[in-house]
Amino acid sequence: MKILVIGSGGREHCLCWKIAQSKLVEKIYCAPGNGGTSLAAENIAIDSDDITGLLKFAKDRAIDLTIVGPEAPLADGIVDVFIAHGLKIFGPDKESAKLESSKVFAKETMRKYKIPTADFAVFNEPQAAKKYIKEKGVPIVIKADGLAAGKGVVVAKTIQEASDAIDLIMVKKEFGPSGDRVVIEEYLDGQEASILAITDGKNIVLLESSQDHKCIFDGDKGPNTGGMGAYSPAPLINQELSAKISEKIFKPLIQGLAAEGKPYRGVLYAGIMVKNNEPYVLEFNVRFGDPEAQSILPKLKSDLIEVMLRAVDGKLEGVKLEWDNRFCLSVVLASAGYPGDYETGKVIGGLGVVGQMKDIFIFHAGTKMDQRRKSDKVNSEEERKVFITNGGRVLNVCALGDTIGDARDKVYGAIKNIFFHGLHYRNDIGNKALKS
Ligand code: AMP
Ligand code: GLY
Repeated sequence: MKILVIGSGGREHCLCWKIAQSKLVEKIYCAPGNGGTSLAAENIAIDSDDITGLLKFAKDRAIDLTIVGPEAPLADGIVDVFIAHGLKIFGPDKESAKLESSKVFAKETMRKYKIPTADFAVFNEPQAAKKYIKEKGVPIVIKADGLAAGKGVVVAKTIQEASDAIDLIMVKKEFGPSGDRVVIEEYLDGQEASILAITDGKNIVLLESSQDHKCIFDGDKGPNTGGMGAYSPAPLINQELSAKISEKIFKPLIQGLAAEGKPYRGVLYAGIMVKNNEPYVLEFNVRFGDPEAQSILPKLKSDLIEVMLRAVDGKLEGVKLEWDNRFCLSVVLASAGYPGDYETGKVIGGLGVVGQMKDIFIFHAGTKMDQRRKSDKVNSEEERKVFITNGGRVLNVCALGDTIGDARDKVYGAIKNIFFHGLHYRNDIGNKALKS
């Protein structure tokens, strides 16, 4: 089969790496890809939001299955367009993608199906929002309705912070029309985990749990990022909780949407807060998490393409995934300045050494392949090739280990060999799990 993967992050490199192991796959393309995806796939210079260009490519090359990594093309309806042209594509349609692209839609859907989530109210006018905040008191959580690259949520500890968030989102329009409405919700104090499931619209297959680390600095300090590291499984999610998440969250949602004639197909990610041993949904994402995928997929033994095809064809019934029993932990190496402005074009050293290490995987995010200068001495033309930084999150270093501590030690041992100017990473990925 010929597969097209859409996206350019660590998640997409990991997807390309995983599906390259499938016996069903003869060729993988990645659009636009990154330095690392070019090792497992052929990079194609089409942006992930250029739906017309992607459609043309998929038709011209007779792609058998397209897999969508990021949320933006899903929210823009790429799945509807591909299906209308008779092409197979893994992901939810535009209507279902609203679970991520509209927090108002997600919260109202949860209310409709009695899915446990924080109590909330919706506002389209800043004065009314501020009045409600004063009535409710702090801490309180303000969320821009639409997509905001993970920056549209403010957990406010003071009335002033909450009021500033309303101004930023609704008055200054920091996120454009995504801030036309806000969800204001009750603050939940608990522990977070990410639970992903693959569904064909009727049947639900839960993946192993994982835990992301969103803040840039150790100890969950500093601004939020796309995610600085993850591990799987999350010890917090025991069997009892996993059963509750399946029964109280995924089943009512998937069955409810199917009954409305809007079946959800693809991967569904629930960001969960566990409070008093009960799960509450913080958010839905309509795609694999990044970096969650990089800690989940190295543990998956089953053929991912087979599972995805079954999901697309409505044939997931009876599917049981096989997992490596070990833990997988991944740490993100970022450019100096991220999540704010950062430099690019820095040569990355040490990838060759780490690439040889047992049970260690490197997934590239913001990298690109480049050539050393002609004046640089090299032993072969192959050695002339280098990877340079090309984004905020640059690399994911991941390891499998018998315990979280073992996986953590392997990752941090490997990272010592990698260098680029301004390299920054968190030193405490896994520590919280080890403490509990
Ligand atoms: P979201 O994008 O909605 O998952 O929110 C981003 C982050 O904000 C979450 O990962 C939580 O750490 C935090 N958060 C969101 N909603 C709540 C809530 N109701 N209570 C406490 N923290 C929250
Ligand atoms: N790591 C969080 C996300 O993918 O949204």
